[in-house]
Amino acid sequence: MTRVFSGIQPSGDLHLGNYLGALVNWVGMQDRADCVYCVVDLHAITSPAEHDHATLPQRTLDAATVLLAVGVDPERSILFVQSHLHEHAECTWLFNCVAGFGELRKMPQFREKSEGKGESVSVGLFDYPVLQAADILLYHADEVPVGEDQRHHIELARDIGQRFNHRFGDEVFTLPKAIHPPAAARVRDLQEPTSKMSKSTSSDKGIVNLLDDPKRIEKKFKSAVTDSATDIRYDRTEKPGVSNLLEILSAATDRDIPDLVTEYDGQGYGTFKGAVAEAVIEMVRPIQERHAELASDPGEIERLLKQGADRAREVAAPTLARAKAAIGLLPPSR
Ligand code: AMP
Ligand code: TRP
Repeated sequence: MTRVFSGIQPSGDLHLGNYLGALVNWVGMQDRADCVYCVVDLHAITSPAEHDHATLPQRTLDAATVLLAVGVDPERSILFVQSHLHEHAECTWLFNCVAGFGELRKMPQFREKSEGKGESVSVGLFDYPVLQAADILLYHADEVPVGEDQRHHIELARDIGQRFNHRFGDEVFTLPKAIHPPAAARVRDLQEPTSKMSKSTSSDKGIVNLLDDPKRIEKKFKSAVTDSATDIRYDRTEKPGVSNLLEILSAATDRDIPDLVTEYDGQGYGTFKGAVAEAVIEMVRPIQERHAELASDPGEIERLLKQGADRAREVAAPTLARAKAAIGLLPPSR
């Protein structure tokens, strides 16, 4: 059976970009694949802006709660916290000795996040994609459902796996490929529709959180930046705001963009924005209801995460053992 792996950084406030870009696929793939999903807390400590040590434990638990609320099924899939397995950090070290300085320096996310920070940028931030490669390759993942922004990271994981297999002569690792959704693979900020909706760079007005109440969602869409014309059409360059809203509406209603353009062109931006808000409110309603139930029992979430870590270890530990032997490390005697 196809094996799927994906991860998400711990934030209590997962947003519409996370949901449409990645989580919808996470949930859907459970019907046809063996899925492993991870809250990547080790990644969350790589940049000071996102690393608040006092709130990280709660945010980790909150992220797991939201994942269950959107429909990750802990019976069928493995859901766990990255730092609960030492295998991820250990495998990262092996890959550090296979990955190249030059290829890491070119990673777009590293370039963005390190811009203007000079020499103070952490080694962890630089190494972030290598840890991500370890996440993926430890589970022999064939497919990795992610938003478009992760494309280069998945290609790097593939390159590292291929190089490792080639150099150490054993087919230890499966080579993964990224899976993106047909629409909304890159959801833009509602206030700045040329940049992606992102926890670290968007203002609250530009970002729609899955747990925002309906009034707030409506307000955010009503004040979304569009342009001064009135026509509704899909054109990423000339009409980034309207195009972003069309993609969101398409993903939320499962309708084609040309079909939506035929329906809404000529009706004015007010009506159109109202329709997008309504579709998104309806989409998140069941998630919010389920979230309220789950959040009332954090002990149960912790139990599920422990069970998930135990199941994850059964896959990751033997892969790491094979990788260590292949690279030439003497196994300890029993
Ligand atoms: P992160 O919050 O950075 O851990 O991202 C978790 C998942 O959400 C990854 O698969 C990202 O590619 C995806 N994602 C994050 N922001 C967006 C966005 N604005 N549009 C589409 N996908 C996104
Ligand atoms: N870097 C990813 C992001 O920001 C999160 C992530 C970590 C991930 N490990 C992963 C995604 C493994 C897919 C597979 O979205």
